[in-house]
Amino acid sequence: MDLNEEVKKRWDDFAEDMGRAYTTEGDLNRIYLLNPAILQLVGQLKGKHVLDAVCGEGYLSRKMFADGAKVKAFDFSSRMVEVAKQKSKGFNIPILQGDFQDLSMIKDNEFDIVISNMVIHDLPYHNLAIGEAYRVLKPGGIFVFSILHPCFDTPESGWVKDSNGNKLYWKVSKYFTEGIVRQETSNGSILMFHRTLSNYFKTLRQCGFVIDDLIEPEPTDEAIEAHNDYMNFKNMCHFIVIKAVK
Ligand SMILES: C[S@@+](CC[C@H](N)C(=O)[O-])C[C@H]1O[C@@H](n2cnc3c(N)ncnc32)[C@H](O)[C@@H]1O
Repeated sequence: MDLNEEVKKRWDDFAEDMGRAYTTEGDLNRIYLLNPAILQLVGQLKGKHVLDAVCGEGYLSRKMFADGAKVKAFDFSSRMVEVAKQKSKGFNIPILQGDFQDLSMIKDNEFDIVISNMVIHDLPYHNLAIGEAYRVLKPGGIFVFSILHPCFDTPESGWVKDSNGNKLYWKVSKYFTEGIVRQETSNGSILMFHRTLSNYFKTLRQCGFVIDDLIEPEPTDEAIEAHNDYMNFKNMCHFIVIKAVK
């Protein structure tokens, strides 16, 4: 199967579960780590034209709409688009079906902000998607995206545990081995693409972006109090959120 089709099938299969599991703020990592970082980097949303690239079940589109943004969204998976439309009834958010690597359905210079939450490491051709984000932004527009932190989430990385299952430390390996990573989980097979941090930096620059800011989200005391496991996220960093300017 073509790589794009394989990624699409995996998300088609997961769409209903994701729709059921996510709250109005997403899942735990989104609530405690990703949303605060993304919204801090995005700044004022009122009246801004925002593209949610890619929306999944659509919680972030709805959240930004509620904050006064004019949001357009899309996802590659037709089942995910159906779930997002269902959950977004009553919100004035056009939800399209499309591939981030080819946004020919969207015209140049349309948006003030492009957001991409936990998507780019799913894409076989991240350079095409980043180029498309650049094209659809107005001059001076911002691109804010989150990904698995490429310095920690490497092929075959993971917790090393003691005999009682307590997490001791996070093992990193094969950092410079870029390409497809397949992981078997209880939710089925996951397909991702590992790239080094310098690859992301160079790709953004080659597409025309200037990196303006970044956040490595650290769990707050409140997060640790609510979910003790977040204590372990003081020892490694799962995500990175980057703001780049056109
Ligand atoms: C981890 S989910 C993130 C969704 C959403 N941004 C969120 O934070 O909940 C990844 C999404 O990427 C979509 N996707 C995967 N490949 C894509 C592509 N080439 N173009 C557009 N969407 C894609 C999947 O259908 C899935 O909804």
